[in-house]
Amino acid sequence: MGKVYVFDHPLIQHKVALMRMKETNVKDFRDLAREIAMLMGFEATRDLELEEVEIETPICKTRVNMLKGEDIAIIPILRAGLGFVDGMLELVPNAKVGHVGLYRDPETHEPVEYYCKLPTDIGKRKIFVLDPMLATGGSAVAAIDFIKKRGGKDIVFMCLIAAPEGIKALQDAHPDVDIYIASKDEKLNENAYIVPGLGDAGDRLYGTK
Ligand code: PRP
Ligand code: URA
Repeated sequence: MGKVYVFDHPLIQHKVALMRMKETNVKDFRDLAREIAMLMGFEATRDLELEEVEIETPICKTRVNMLKGEDIAIIPILRAGLGFVDGMLELVPNAKVGHVGLYRDPETHEPVEYYCKLPTDIGKRKIFVLDPMLATGGSAVAAIDFIKKRGGKDIVFMCLIAAPEGIKALQDAHPDVDIYIASKDEKLNENAYIVPGLGDAGDRLYGTK
């Protein structure tokens, strides 16, 4: 079973609290998403592979460890996952970026796919799937299904807020995937929104409501 890592770092907790507040405006919400992605990404990239390369310091030649940056793919689930991309790219600027477009049907809450474009060599890459919200888990499960069907193997899922129902659904469907969560919330409401949550992440990120 993949690990579930819930962050207890005070900076992350503080920034998530700011994002939850209904009076936080679009610009601050976006800035906070980028900052939290960086802080979470720092831990989620702990297992990245290094390669030894020879360099020359002003003193002498030496061998040092450097990231195999070209082996990473970042895949936001549209729309709200886009809010995490810039923060992750600050950490791994050479990563390739794929996109999976999904929205939840407002009646059934089932995910509907409308877009999927991934790096052609996705099977060789360590993949970070990004979405701020893991509610029923339907979107994350479907996105990872698509990515696996197209050859993706080594997958990590990163989200801001998760409901217990979503964590279970994702673990049941994809037990090989590690899950990084900034905050684990209480439950889902009757509309499958996370309680207390932060509302609709896409709308808050783009000011569409
Ligand atoms: C939100 C969120 C996730 C999904 C989570 O997207 O960004 O993708 O809901 O819910 P689930 O775990 O129950 O599937 P939404 O469908 O609102 O689309 P948007 O990002 O385009 O606003
Ligand atoms: N999608 C969101 O954006 N927020 C929720 O609380 C649940 C799904």
